[in-house]
Amino acid sequence: MKLLVCGAAGFIGSTFVGLRLREHGDEVTVLDKLTYAGRKENLAEVQAEIRFVKGAIEDPAAVRDALGPRAPDAIVNFAAETHVDRSIAEPFAFSQTNGLGTHVLLEAARERGLRYVQVSTDEVYGSIESGSFTESSPLAPSSPYSASKTGADLLVTSYFHTYGLHASVCRGSNNYGPRQYPEKLIPLMILNALAGDRLPVYGDGKQVRNWLFVEDFGRGIGHVLEHGEPGETYNCGGPDECENLDVVKRLLELTGAEESLIEYVTDRPGHDRRYSLSSAKLQGLGWQARTRFAEGLAQTVEWYRDNGWWWEPIRTGTYREYYERHYGRALKS
Ligand code: NAD
Ligand code: TYD
Repeated sequence: MKLLVCGAAGFIGSTFVGLRLREHGDEVTVLDKLTYAGRKENLAEVQAEIRFVKGAIEDPAAVRDALGPRAPDAIVNFAAETHVDRSIAEPFAFSQTNGLGTHVLLEAARERGLRYVQVSTDEVYGSIESGSFTESSPLAPSSPYSASKTGADLLVTSYFHTYGLHASVCRGSNNYGPRQYPEKLIPLMILNALAGDRLPVYGDGKQVRNWLFVEDFGRGIGHVLEHGEPGETYNCGGPDECENLDVVKRLLELTGAEESLIEYVTDRPGHDRRYSLSSAKLQGLGWQARTRFAEGLAQTVEWYRDNGWWWEPIRTGTYREYYERHYGRALKS
């Protein structure tokens, strides 16, 4: 297939591109704004095989340039502002990229009659005490991040209903794996544990997330691209759920760090207690998660141990300022 993949200099998009090149022989153009989370290093292994365009999805000229004179078969959109804590501190970028940016891509797909896949999140359903969300559960986002992703999902399905656009949505649960930016729970805790820094647990640490290894999500999105029905939404959840505190304790074991590094800090405002997805619909199309949490977590810790070249520039760069502002303390050098 010929694909335009937006936001592929980030964590999940770069994994998706690697999988599509290796397992499907696709022809790929990447459009990415290269925000703090987007790094050319993430595409280092595939750079000779792809076309890269630097630009924003909310910029119609950049989208036109990336689509080129011979349009691709499909647009797959990963591009987003993705961190809940940043959406609480600086919400407007989230409406711009996640809302307006998605809208510009949908228009481009409509004008050219392209297949469209929107990469979305379980956070659009909000929190669930017990049981799991299905695709027909009500949407009840609670952060500016999840609200902007919900708005984008609704635009996508509106383009199917109104214009007949061949568009589908794939909602993933919490991802983890190599190359995830260390503002998210797992890489942040791994790098702090390796450096002997404190491990900041929000509130009581009993919030539950449904963990999905990044390659499993990448293949799930590919499955929706190839087998998804137009206008349909597909949940793509991980095989295991885990309390945050349990995640942190497993990471202490894997890194050999001391439990005394755990520090309970002020809870996130509006913090969702539990996410849980039923993936029966996507499993019905033949997708299955392959990686259990224990195995994926061990692999992820190994990757961060072995790839200091990837994260050292982050920990010594502007990330330090973000960290100090957000956690009210400096990172260890
Ligand atoms: P990420 O933050 O690692 O990467 C986001 C990428 O988008 C970066 O390369 C960034 O430069 C690019 N980008 C940001 N704004 C842009 C813009 N205006 N124009 C073009 N490019 C822009 O994110 P991720 O974790 O890889 O998430 C990718 C997608 O998957 C997002 O849509 C996110 O909502 C969704 N998702 C993430 C998770 C998760 O656990 N990380 C779970 C479910 C769904
Ligand atoms: P995060 O990785 O930000 O993903 P999301 O909020 O999208 O689920 O956070 C995962 C969980 O970990 C969430 O319940 C918040 C919690 N958390 C901490 O306890 N401490 C931290 O420093 C971070 C970043 C997250």
